[in-house]
Amino acid sequence: MANFLVQKSAPLYGEVEISGSKNAVLPIMAAALLAGGECEIIEVPKLKDVEVMSELLKSIGSSVTEDYDNNRIKISTPAGVSYEAPSDLVKKMRASILVMGPILAKTGFVRIPLPGGCAIGKRPINLHLKGLHALGAEIKEDSTCVEARGKLSGGNVYLDTPSVGATENIMMAATLAEGTSIIENAALEPEIVDLASFLNRMGAKIKGAGTDTIKIEGVKELTGCKHSVIPDRIETGTFMIAAAITRGNILLRNVLPDHVKPVIAKLRECGVVIEYNDESILVIGDAAELIPTDLKTLPYPGFPTDVQPQFMSLLATIKGPSVIIETVFENRFMHVHELNRMGADIRTEGNNAWLRGDKPLIGAKVVCTDLRAGAALVLAGLAAEGTTEISETYHIDRGYSNFIEKFNGIGAAIVRALD
Ligand code: EPZ
Repeated sequence: MANFLVQKSAPLYGEVEISGSKNAVLPIMAAALLAGGECEIIEVPKLKDVEVMSELLKSIGSSVTEDYDNNRIKISTPAGVSYEAPSDLVKKMRASILVMGPILAKTGFVRIPLPGGCAIGKRPINLHLKGLHALGAEIKEDSTCVEARGKLSGGNVYLDTPSVGATENIMMAATLAEGTSIIENAALEPEIVDLASFLNRMGAKIKGAGTDTIKIEGVKELTGCKHSVIPDRIETGTFMIAAAITRGNILLRNVLPDHVKPVIAKLRECGVVIEYNDESILVIGDAAELIPTDLKTLPYPGFPTDVQPQFMSLLATIKGPSVIIETVFENRFMHVHELNRMGADIRTEGNNAWLRGDKPLIGAKVVCTDLRAGAALVLAGLAAEGTTEISETYHIDRGYSNFIEKFNGIGAAIVRALD
């Protein structure tokens, strides 16, 4: 397995081009199953998760042409797709569950292995199934897989929690249902809006994406289209924190500042200077002595849970007390043990973490437990004395493209070593 060796870094300085959004492109690739013709998706990030989704679509019967050097893929799907998603691929990536709605809408039947939990939580799919059932599907579930069957008709569903994946699955399925559907307490994330604009470009009739009530008027068929994926707001937040934690000065390009408002607000509370226009964000981490702040993660437009670990690394380097409350996932503090091995002073109880950044971090051997925890450990390594060796870094390759190259391009010294 590859390890990252991260040296303590001087202040990072320079420009970083943000890639397309992982959490937008994965549902959009699944939605391409619904099209009668070819979909061309551009600004596609080169990620392991995109490769897995591409493999999954091919196993279902789509033809996928990948041109990662030009950040684009083409997907075309015949009428007779297979209704079964292979277990090994679904187990590899939770987002595989997003093919469930499209296959059901296209074929009237789908069988998919239960994606199972991961490091950050149980991650059930009860709300996905509640929504598909509301569209008229008959659901059958056992300990290993779930089936949904039926010709879909318009229906209404209230989501007990504003689940991103459930909103996406139900919205995709409803596009071909007979009649109108309403999703209430829908997720508001920008990736939902990007998916809806892709579907509408294919001929769907979706209104309200980005609000808590989404209305979908079913249509007979959807056609192929061309779509450009939005920039990755989580990668944007990660590099903003890189400027802060190294007390550097980074200009981020290919960004949508509106999508990272909570991260801008919290970094400004710490004394980081942030200037932005509609094309770039300038982060100045050395304008003043940074001060601690408290953080609570919430569904969008609250502070994103996917940037919580990275922000914790920053707070672990700022003198004084701070508190982090994680409200979205039940086990998203796996990085705390690893940060404490680097000398951080973090105590947790349930979803609450109390920390102080009075002592400098020291490089150590640490383990990457999930994608965003891995990013947090890289950031901590940039600030820690000496060298930090991070193992299990395949998690990072799943969700960040050219991660090391981007950091080394602004002054970091990170090496990928094979152990
Ligand atoms: C998406 O996951 C993202 N992944 C996650 O990003 C992100 O952390 C999450 O949304 C929240 O923003 C992709 O988009 C591929 P949820 P998803 O359904 O859809 C509970 C990353 O690092 N829930 O909004 O799986 C669930 O247990 C990843 O890029 C139910 O109870 O998240 C969780 O507590 C990590 N029943 C909460 O909702 C359900 O049926 C939010 O989950 C579904 C979810």
